[in-house]
Amino acid sequence: MIIGVIGLGTVGFGTVDILTKEKERLEKTIGEEVVVKYGCALEDVNLPDGIIYTQDYHEVINDEDVDVVVELIGGTTIAKKIILDALNKKKHVVTANKALIAHDAKELFTAARENGVNLYYEASVGGGIPVVVPAKEDLVANNINKIEGILNGTTNFILTLMERDNLDFEEALKIAQNLGYVEANAALDLDGYDAAHKIYILTMNAFSTFFDFDKIKCTGIRNVTKKDMDYAKKLGYRIKLIAMSKKLENGLGIDVSPTLVPMSEIVGNVMDAYNVVEITCDYLENVLFYGKGAGRYVTASAVVADIIKTAKKDVWTHDYDYTENVYPITSSKYYVR
Ligand code: HSE
Repeated sequence: MIIGVIGLGTVGFGTVDILTKEKERLEKTIGEEVVVKYGCALEDVNLPDGIIYTQDYHEVINDEDVDVVVELIGGTTIAKKIILDALNKKKHVVTANKALIAHDAKELFTAARENGVNLYYEASVGGGIPVVVPAKEDLVANNINKIEGILNGTTNFILTLMERDNLDFEEALKIAQNLGYVEANAALDLDGYDAAHKIYILTMNAFSTFFDFDKIKCTGIRNVTKKDMDYAKKLGYRIKLIAMSKKLENGLGIDVSPTLVPMSEIVGNVMDAYNVVEITCDYLENVLFYGKGAGRYVTASAVVADIIKTAKKDVWTHDYDYTENVYPITSSKYYVR
């Protein structure tokens, strides 16, 4: 397996590092060589010996030897072009790009299917927590009724600081920013769009449907005050930014909003930058996925797993059962759990 990694920031570097350190074991697992041939980024990083550094992504996707292209630059413009170009060159693609999948899944999946290659994106939700594929494949016996989650670590960290250390929103935000938690475009975290991208992806897989991302009603945490938290606490609740998707009588209700969650429940006790996803379905009833939702090695863990999965030559025919816009999307007006 020959790999080209495009984007050598936090997650890209972590991915190359794991592939280098775990090379022997991974090779044993799949019975073939695991070689990172290219690292592509605007700025050189200290790549391990033997990896070709390039600034030109075409060099990676035009190399006939490359089997897997890993897109880790993020954003929805250049990243989309890179992924489509790579798929059209019949390369498997692995990405952590939540915004792109949430906006353009149908187009990307179609390109993957038409070219007989895979597009994997487990790292787009919950960092390394395996939840994207489980929501579609491992729960396939079940009819899913509801997905609820704390899907944005940054806002959960800010809410935790506000509650535990008695800080106001601005003070907590500053600490999160100093720790490098907040996205370059802070609105993605603070206004709930990042969580919305992630609930889109889980909903798409759990309910096998594409729909318009803009239909998701999204409210962030900027207006949550210490006073709100104190009142919530008196009633036995915590305020959490919950991303939720629920089957309604006619369609799906999808929201991202600050929500009162009982302190007696697991979800109400997920603190700091941790993520949780709870899926409610018929046969398995309830299942929770919990862990660190962001960070270099945390996210690279899922990226590496996706890369290794492409070695199994069976292609996941992405859009064979996805329908489009069959569920009217509304808000479930979900403010108290
Ligand atoms: N900004 C994201 C978060 C990073 O805080 O969860 C991981 O997707």
